[in-house]
Amino acid sequence: MRTPLMAGNWKLNLTIDEAVGLATALAGQTAGLTDREVMIAPVFTALAPVGKALEGRGIYLGAQDVYWESSGAWTGEVSAPLLKDAGCSHVIVGHSERRQHFGETDEDVNRKARAAIKAGLLPVICVGETLEEREAGRERDVVHRMVKSALEGVSPEDASSVILAYEPVWAIGTGKTASPDQADEIHGYIRGLLSGSFGDIVADRIRILYGGSVKPDNVDELMGKPHIDGALVGGASLEVDSFSRIVRFEKG
Ligand code: 13P
Repeated sequence: MRTPLMAGNWKLNLTIDEAVGLATALAGQTAGLTDREVMIAPVFTALAPVGKALEGRGIYLGAQDVYWESSGAWTGEVSAPLLKDAGCSHVIVGHSERRQHFGETDEDVNRKARAAIKAGLLPVICVGETLEEREAGRERDVVHRMVKSALEGVSPEDASSVILAYEPVWAIGTGKTASPDQADEIHGYIRGLLSGSFGDIVADRIRILYGGSVKPDNVDELMGKPHIDGALVGGASLEVDSFSRIVRFEKG
């Protein structure tokens, strides 16, 4: 069985003090939960202090991006070994905001995912179609292309610890959630693709999170779906009560 992962993507928000405060409060509210995992992804500058504050408190630390080279003349970039050094266990790659606003390509996402795996980080690889693509009935094609290219050259053994996140772009920060059935249909489709590439055993192990306007009032129903193995939460992860309620989902 796949252990649910409830992940908060804090995006470009919170100072170091605010991030440490929220992480600490969240650890207090979610202590003792053993049947699910929690991960938060603060901005780069807050990673090390948040990592220190969370030591031994059962919440995983993730970064929001990574560069594929380990070190060298790459001004402004942060590498996977340095994220490990800061206390990270996870890293989000290929978020739609990076694809849309920073020109990240499928090939970049693949390089980042492989660099993360090589350094011993678990990549959370984001895929999802835009509104225009969905309206044109192309969501499966887009997701197919993104999943296949992100995992190109990844061995079945490594693939089993990768995490995918289906985040339809039209549902991010808009208050519009994909319906639980709509989301589960794409998750099932993704699992079928993973089966084709890596076999059923590996595909059954890979967690596929849903992201896009996940809130306390829709999480239970989403998590009740067979192929939804967790959530990647933006806005609602910035407030301790709403995110801890999301973490404490009960399958609806
Ligand atoms: P919202 O939960 O704010 O829609 O953001 C989703 C997201 O992009 C998480 O990575």
